[in-house]
Amino acid sequence: MRQTSEGEAVRANSMSSITLKNIKKVYPITDDEIRSKKKKRKQQDEAPVEGFVPNLQITDEGVVAVQDFNLEIKDKEFVVLVGPSGCGKSTTLRMIAGLEEITSGELYIGDKLSNVIAPRDRNIAMVFQNYSLYPHMTVRENMGFSLKLAKMPKDEIEKKVQEAARTLEITQILDRLPKALSGGQRQRVAIGRAIVRQPQVILMDEPLSNLDAKLRGQMRSEIIRLRQKIDTTFVYVTHDQIEAMTLGDRIVVMKDGFIQQVGTPQEVFNHPVNTFVAGFIGTPQINFFHNVPLIKKNGEYYITIQGQDIKLDEKHQKVLKEKDTEEKNLIVGVRPVHIEMSDQGFTGKIEVSEMMGSEVHLHINLNGDDIVAVIPTANLDLDKVSLGKDFTFTFNPSLIHCFDAATEENLI
Ligand SMILES: Nc1ncnc2c1ncn2[C@@H]1O[C@H](COP(=O)(O)OP(=O)(O)OP(=O)(O)O)[C@@H](O)[C@H]1O
Ligand SMILES: [Mg+2]
Repeated sequence: MRQTSEGEAVRANSMSSITLKNIKKVYPITDDEIRSKKKKRKQQDEAPVEGFVPNLQITDEGVVAVQDFNLEIKDKEFVVLVGPSGCGKSTTLRMIAGLEEITSGELYIGDKLSNVIAPRDRNIAMVFQNYSLYPHMTVRENMGFSLKLAKMPKDEIEKKVQEAARTLEITQILDRLPKALSGGQRQRVAIGRAIVRQPQVILMDEPLSNLDAKLRGQMRSEIIRLRQKIDTTFVYVTHDQIEAMTLGDRIVVMKDGFIQQVGTPQEVFNHPVNTFVAGFIGTPQINFFHNVPLIKKNGEYYITIQGQDIKLDEKHQKVLKEKDTEEKNLIVGVRPVHIEMSDQGFTGKIEVSEMMGSEVHLHINLNGDDIVAVIPTANLDLDKVSLGKDFTFTFNPSLIHCFDAATEENLI
């Protein structure tokens, strides 16, 4: 190891990065379980039940919970793993923590191969959804417990606990027992217990999901502030895409154990790689037009939505021409915020009108398609967006997303 000050600085910098290379996790299951799951899947293949989404890959070795997982988390980065229930988020986090064995692949913490390093030797702290505070210990004792185990002198423990308590603004509750705390306070103590150790990496698994909506919003901003105060690498798991968008420097969208897309919240929102990501990220959900033909006229690309030809924008034209894309069927995504009220375009009937204050959310029945639009209410004649009225709208072709209907992947 280089001992120069420069070398030390470089080493310190790479310390809290995390690299996952080709990580796979298979939970072994019994033969009976395999048989029953295969049978279910066979039944589903033979007589599909609508809405049933098999999210497990069952092989003879077991349940494949995570596979082909490649990700480099930079030092001091805040990365959020997001995806629907069962997609492998917790499994991934637990493998980083050392709480779950890695079936194959390599996990590096800093530049050290860490697959088989014991959890307590990883310098990683984890915050769980259910707080897991010791009920018979005060907040102070809960927060200082890991330091006590590490045989740190009492006065030093007190100093660290005070410091963490100040960061989280819980100094006044240090002598209380967990049962005398609100949900938000408990969660702060759980976070406090993680940060006293000044770990290289903090892992959080759905830490806010037990809180009510208002408190969740508050704690979200507190985590953003905390992050600015304690410079550490964070890996955060949630199924809530709003949390993912607001907290993450980068977000990792997962489905069925596979990474679908990695990018900044803006990248993922502006350029979803497939229909799954497009549908998962953004509220209200993106609108999809199905069975949209992509056609080529005089060397230019058009799409036809409900009988109307729309010329694609320059960005699409350029990529499609370069690839010489053939005419095919598309699924076209249009975000509700990109739908504009207009004098001409598509006309449907307003079936639901939800007033949100600064905007109104409309459900428009467009020849059987349910189209959701978010219309700002400033300077809007509210009578025009009332129930049962005809509503005419358009959208800017440069803001739409074109997916190949066969592969569901973004064309550009
Ligand atoms: N101990 C286990 N034994 C067998 N299968 C498991 C085990 N733990 C998890 N799984 C399976 O692995 C898959 C991934 O589970 P995981 O808990 O990582 O999902 P998740 O994304 O965290 O979901 P949630 O949002 O519901 O917490 C699931 O299909 C789950 O049923
Ligand atoms: Mg989970």
